[in-house]
Amino acid sequence: MNKMRFARVELENWKNFTSVEVDLANRVFIVGPNAIGKSNFLQVFRFLRDLVLEGGGLGPAVNQRGGMGKVRSLYARGLNTDVMIRVVVKDEAGAGWRYELAFAHESDRNPRPVVVRELVDRLRVSGETERKLARPDNQDETDPERLKETAIGVLRANQDFRELADFFRTVAYLHLVPQLLREEQSPRGDTLGTDPYGRDLLDQIRNTTPRTQKARLRRLERVLKTVAPQLENLRLEIDEHGQPHLEGKFRHWRPQGAYQDERQLSDGTLRLIGLLWSLQEPGGPLLLEEPELSLHTAIVKRLAPFIHRAQVGGAGRQVILTTHSEHLLMDAGIAPEEVLLMLPAAEGAQVVEGAARSEIVRLMQAGLTASEAVLPRTETRQMALFDRLNV
Ligand SMILES: Nc1ncnc2c1ncn2[C@@H]1O[C@H](COP(=O)(O)OP(=O)(O)OP(=O)(O)O)[C@@H](O)[C@H]1O
Ligand SMILES: [Mg+2]
Repeated sequence: MNKMRFARVELENWKNFTSVEVDLANRVFIVGPNAIGKSNFLQVFRFLRDLVLEGGGLGPAVNQRGGMGKVRSLYARGLNTDVMIRVVVKDEAGAGWRYELAFAHESDRNPRPVVVRELVDRLRVSGETERKLARPDNQDETDPERLKETAIGVLRANQDFRELADFFRTVAYLHLVPQLLREEQSPRGDTLGTDPYGRDLLDQIRNTTPRTQKARLRRLERVLKTVAPQLENLRLEIDEHGQPHLEGKFRHWRPQGAYQDERQLSDGTLRLIGLLWSLQEPGGPLLLEEPELSLHTAIVKRLAPFIHRAQVGGAGRQVILTTHSEHLLMDAGIAPEEVLLMLPAAEGAQVVEGAARSEIVRLMQAGLTASEAVLPRTETRQMALFDRLNV
């Protein structure tokens, strides 16, 4: 089986989205004003992962996000107030899966989430589909307690579509916060799986075989030199308390240089290390929050093609990222299909494919970059009020 990725996502009543239906490319740039739902959208894929993680499942995945009242859209009303997530997952040949989950709170007295519908379809290259799961089923009817759990998250129940569960497990999210990485003792919080803020980056590096670790650190070192030319000989060292540290030799006027570890490295260096490491990890879809943060614009301008090269020549992970950076979107290689715009809707927000807007496609075909053709469209009228405000 070759590499799978999310090819489409449809949502109902998820956070601030009443309804979403979009195709997803192998590299996705999500743009939109502040508080429009970019991070909420990334949460969908983390939620699917949380369903299948050890210690995860429907209850924990919802509780982790503050309960049904926070996950379900505040705009939801009328006949359909279920939260619904439907994804199409495909490999390069076009075979894959469709997964659909609708859930609701059990009753007004009991806000815990229960499965309203869970469907799994196998998609063949020929276009045929084969239903592998349709819930509620007879067993659910005799024992409604079963609806507290999804089948995808239960090993006993997912043997016919284990591949899909395994795929959800490979989703990773990275929003590396340098200061948290530097503070050794900072609590990990109660997130499931890997730490979203990159605090377990050093453990991830430690958990590779010496050979892989060395090869990846060498590659990392080469790229890091573009932002921190004095840095060389990057290595992972374990201190006397068993804590891993990323050390680099800092070249200065003394001939032998001096070793520094992550606590001395700059914000931009640390964020770049997180990005480069995760691009090299042989995982599934990689969700990145604003990868431009802390980086010089001359580097940011080069990020989009860099990610593309990492996809083609490296681990081949699908990358779904949010950004506010016009520099990141300046690359001429970005196609309209790779851009998702989030815009205010009558209630909440809507997600629009760049390729679905003819004026965007026309401008980009005429040679304008996503920065020029897309970003201005995400400005709202209210933003101009900033000019007249004071504090
Ligand atoms: N259940 C919900 N129903 C309606 N709106 C919600 C719900 N949950 C969160 N929101 C809204 O979503 C918004 C936050 O969205 P999000 O964090 O995804 O923004 P963003 O686009 O990532 O912004 P930024 O660029 O500032 O990071 C908040 O305004 C919040 O009120
Ligand atoms: Mg955000």
